[in-house]
Amino acid sequence: MVKKDRKIKIRSTGIYLPEKVLTNADLEKMVETSDEWITTRTGIKERRLASPDQASSDLGVEAAKMALKRAKLTPEDIDLILVATNTPDTIFPSTACWIQKKLGVKEIPAFDLQAGCTGMLYGLIVSEGLIISGSCRRILLIGVDVLSKIINWQDRSTCVLFGDGAGAFILEESNNESGLLSHFWGADGSLGELLILPGGGTLHPTTEQTVKDKLQYLQMKGNDVFKHAVKRMGESAIEALKRAGLDKSQVDYLIPHQANLRIIDATGERLNLPKDKVMANIAKYGNMSVATIPVALHELIEAGKLHPGQIIVLVAFGAGFTWASAVYRW
Ligand code: UT7
Repeated sequence: MVKKDRKIKIRSTGIYLPEKVLTNADLEKMVETSDEWITTRTGIKERRLASPDQASSDLGVEAAKMALKRAKLTPEDIDLILVATNTPDTIFPSTACWIQKKLGVKEIPAFDLQAGCTGMLYGLIVSEGLIISGSCRRILLIGVDVLSKIINWQDRSTCVLFGDGAGAFILEESNNESGLLSHFWGADGSLGELLILPGGGTLHPTTEQTVKDKLQYLQMKGNDVFKHAVKRMGESAIEALKRAGLDKSQVDYLIPHQANLRIIDATGERLNLPKDKVMANIAKYGNMSVATIPVALHELIEAGKLHPGQIIVLVAFGAGFTWASAVYRW
């Protein structure tokens, strides 16, 4: 068990969800699928889509503004912008730099972190190190993905799964018992090809041929990813609890990455949690990658369900493969 003298806390949260809703009924008109298939296999009913002129930074900056407002802070009170994303506005500059510009705050460091759907938890763990080391006092951590722009809308095996959204945390040192108690993180790069966006990087720079081969779109071996996700999410949640010196029975809420309701349920069962202790909002938003955890946490707070002293477990899995979990005392 790791006992921490100093902890970081989430001072506030913010979210942004695009207005446009795409329902399963809409998808039935686009590809050969059915509401019944999507609902029973994934738990998704609808998802949000960014407008053609919205890039990741446009969603991220709105989530950031909400988090700043709820913390009663201004952009000048932040000393680092860290953005977890798999769908940056541009390969460079980073989405964090575009958000810095849109927030109108100069000079403070800003960078992106890319860790598949696990990015927000990787960002939380990195932020802990930076705050506790004294390098930063207050970090704006944003998780944003606009997956609708990297999806092949003719591929029914992927296009029904994803949605767009953003969430943000303001992070700083805690001065009481609440805060991040423990974490567990890992990666297995040997399985990278099971969930990949192959084109547009230095491996397959964009050419007419790569576009013809559709390498600019996300590719996923759903079945394989599913099995690894169930295993890694369950195991890492248990390991983080062990590191916090806590038992499954002490968990008040599990906030899992929202990729598939069956994965969410399996992770809840692994922790012996009843359904009402497992946060699931995938029906409304689909898989928003890095944004799922901050949006789910924000909605749990908004619903008035979190009270001081409660234990929450955050857990994610994604491309890389990457996985991470965090135990947090509210
Ligand atoms: O966020 C990062 C992590 N991502 C994940 O964790 C996603 C993990 N994977 C999954 O959630 C699931 O594997 C999927 C939802 C992607 C797929 O569910 P599945 O139960 O694994 O289905 P499957 O891929 O084995 O496909 C079953 C059948 C196939 O037909 P046949 O070969 O049995 O005739 C597919 O062609 O379902 C068919 N199918 C569809 N049918 C209607 C695949 N997509 C669709 C669709 N509508 N949209």
